[in-house]
Amino acid sequence: MKNQIGIEAMAVHVPKRYLDLSDLAAARGVDPAKYTIGLGVKEMAVADSGEDTVALAATALLRLLEQHPIDRTRIGMLAVGTETGVDHSKPIASYVQGCLELPQTMRTFDLKHACYGGTAALMACADWIASGSGAGKVAIAIAADIARYELGSPGEPTQGAGAVAMLVSDDPRLLTLHHPAISGVSSADVHDFWRPHGRREALVDGHYSIECYLEALSGAYRGWRAKAAEADLIDGDARVPSESLARIAYHVPFCKMAQKAHARVRAVDLEDLGESTTDGIEKESFERQVAPSLALPRRIGNAYTASLYLGVAGLLTAEGSSLARRPIGLFSYGSGCTSEFFSAVVGERAATSALARDVAQALEERERIGVEEYERLIAAQASSSAPAGRPSSRSTFRFAGVEAGRRRYTRA
Ligand code: HMG
Repeated sequence: MKNQIGIEAMAVHVPKRYLDLSDLAAARGVDPAKYTIGLGVKEMAVADSGEDTVALAATALLRLLEQHPIDRTRIGMLAVGTETGVDHSKPIASYVQGCLELPQTMRTFDLKHACYGGTAALMACADWIASGSGAGKVAIAIAADIARYELGSPGEPTQGAGAVAMLVSDDPRLLTLHHPAISGVSSADVHDFWRPHGRREALVDGHYSIECYLEALSGAYRGWRAKAAEADLIDGDARVPSESLARIAYHVPFCKMAQKAHARVRAVDLEDLGESTTDGIEKESFERQVAPSLALPRRIGNAYTASLYLGVAGLLTAEGSSLARRPIGLFSYGSGCTSEFFSAVVGERAATSALARDVAQALEERERIGVEEYERLIAAQASSSAPAGRPSSRSTFRFAGVEAGRRRYTRA
């Protein structure tokens, strides 16, 4: 068994355009504070019809391989977590393999469980390496999605889109997973959020989905805490065990959710100590342990499977050097539902990786659009004809239309 496994390199890709949520609030007749303070969101990424899930995923991997060149024959597995695939049968992973002309000697597949799919992909890659099945090869996990709710619905300000590609190996320069098995899981059959066949927009029981998330978090966190204590990963001096984690990145459907999540984790710790469930420092603890991971989710919105990993990418970018060798927690939630709380140690070289430049460029390249243009782009996403290309300073993959029933992609 290999014991040093995790993320060697990662890259992000987000759509070229974004909507400022104060513009959406004005158009919907909502107090902007409801979005910016009540939900804690600022901007959301808006994909055009050329930026479908394949294009986002393939471009994130292109960025990864540009910044961190490796011999492609070393890639033995490509696993994509997504809930907004483009075909009932053919996985995004095959399209991505084709776009990047990756070798045939690899496993390729998609994994689906709502927003948990990215973690399922990461864990599949880590397990494959840990078991020795990889026989010295590396694996790629990609999380990519476009979040869509009905226009004018309560879910509308919680949309977004993006992709994160991760190189998983036994040389985890960015993040070493506490692997194997230092994780807690919690799953249940619930109808909090779902998307029946034939629908582009998700159906959601919004307030119930928040309860399901928090309930799953309580179970998964308790599971992680028990295993971490057994493995002596929890600081014996920490009165509140979650304080042993320098930072915690939560799945972020909207930033206020991370605040609710962190309050729940502390409440679980305090309750299990037999104390009152608040000790007056929740806000300070949130600012210190959680807020640094929200920089990207606040500007991109919910990217479903990719949300947690956008949070991690932003965190490593902002604090990679001060977090070196320190443990962080990660919580992944997928509606329906399943969840996992796990932990990892930040690598010595996280601060010097190309990730920070990549993240900065991804945001700098974006352009702000108005509500009319946003509504036009959302309507055009349903089209299967070739969208008009837009110049970009960096090369991207784009959906180029359907020919003879087959989706085509170009590198622009
Ligand atoms: P809503 O019902 O319109 O909002 O939709 P609300 O009335 O609950 O208000 C939201 C917050 O804003 C509240 O704060 C209000 O008090 C506050 P809270 O009580 O929660 O702390 N507020 C204001 N604050 C300042 N100034 C004001 C003001 N007015 C109100 N003027 C909801 C909110 C999240 C339900 C909706 O956006 C939604 O349905 N979103 C989609 C579902 C979702 O994101 N669920 C999260 C958990 S499930 C999950 O994470 C999985 C998911 O990512 C999918 C997957 O797994 O694939 C979604």
